[in-house]
Amino acid sequence: MKKIKIKTKEEIEKMRISGRLTAKVLEMIKKYISIGITTEEIDKICHDYIINKQKAIPACLGYKGFPKSTCISVNNIVCHGIPNKYKLQNGDIVNIDVSVVKNGYHGDASKMFMVGKVNKKYKRLCKSARKSLYIALKLIKPGIKISKLGKNIQKYISKKKFSIVEEYCGHGIGKKFHENPQILHHYDKRQETIIEKGMAFTVEPMINFGNKEVYCCKDGWTVKTVDKSYSAQYEHTIIVTNSGCNILTFQKNEKINKILINKK
Ligand code: MF3
Ligand code: CO
Repeated sequence: MKKIKIKTKEEIEKMRISGRLTAKVLEMIKKYISIGITTEEIDKICHDYIINKQKAIPACLGYKGFPKSTCISVNNIVCHGIPNKYKLQNGDIVNIDVSVVKNGYHGDASKMFMVGKVNKKYKRLCKSARKSLYIALKLIKPGIKISKLGKNIQKYISKKKFSIVEEYCGHGIGKKFHENPQILHHYDKRQETIIEKGMAFTVEPMINFGNKEVYCCKDGWTVKTVDKSYSAQYEHTIIVTNSGCNILTFQKNEKINKILINKK
């Protein structure tokens, strides 16, 4: 069994700060998302905000050689899109994935932004990705198996006739960007680890409009759908409490509570 860190009170306080800063970057960037801006320009705004305003560190920059401070994944890009000269176009759906390190602790979150007028079917895709994240977060409490999260995401997404990417998962988080445990977003009975109070991890389902198959491009990062269908992802960092979890990367206008109490 792989060791999973239980965060101390002091660590949780630090993670609250990192989570809040991460959330603030996503709140801050919203007004810049419009037709014609390049993903590189969006990245630069986030980078400068994290460094200069937050006096913090963008965890992605230099992580295993990643060249930018955020991941920006448009349309058929599933995740780990490298910000570049691409100009956002009417109808694009865009995931921005931000991770901030402050006082040595990480926060990690992502969400979808819509550019101009987005096709109804892709709006539905984004909504379903968010709902699947919320379904999982509402289940979290001490004593349940990790597999319960993927099982219920899968139940919901298969009803919607979308597919779940299986190659990438949520992860423990703290001093390190990626810690144990892994959190799969589809059902896997081997995910037997029991959730405990004080665990911190992310849930970050990637949902494809078409088939689940993805591949990694030659740049070593950009992940795309094989069938070129669009993909959506939402991510939060949470800490497990006595009776549920707290969303550390909670943002304003979120359609869920920050403090989740799960009595079931
Ligand atoms: N933020 C991603 C995650 O959710 C990880 C990105 S790694 C990077 O785990 F190097 F591409 F930034
Ligand atoms: Co993550």
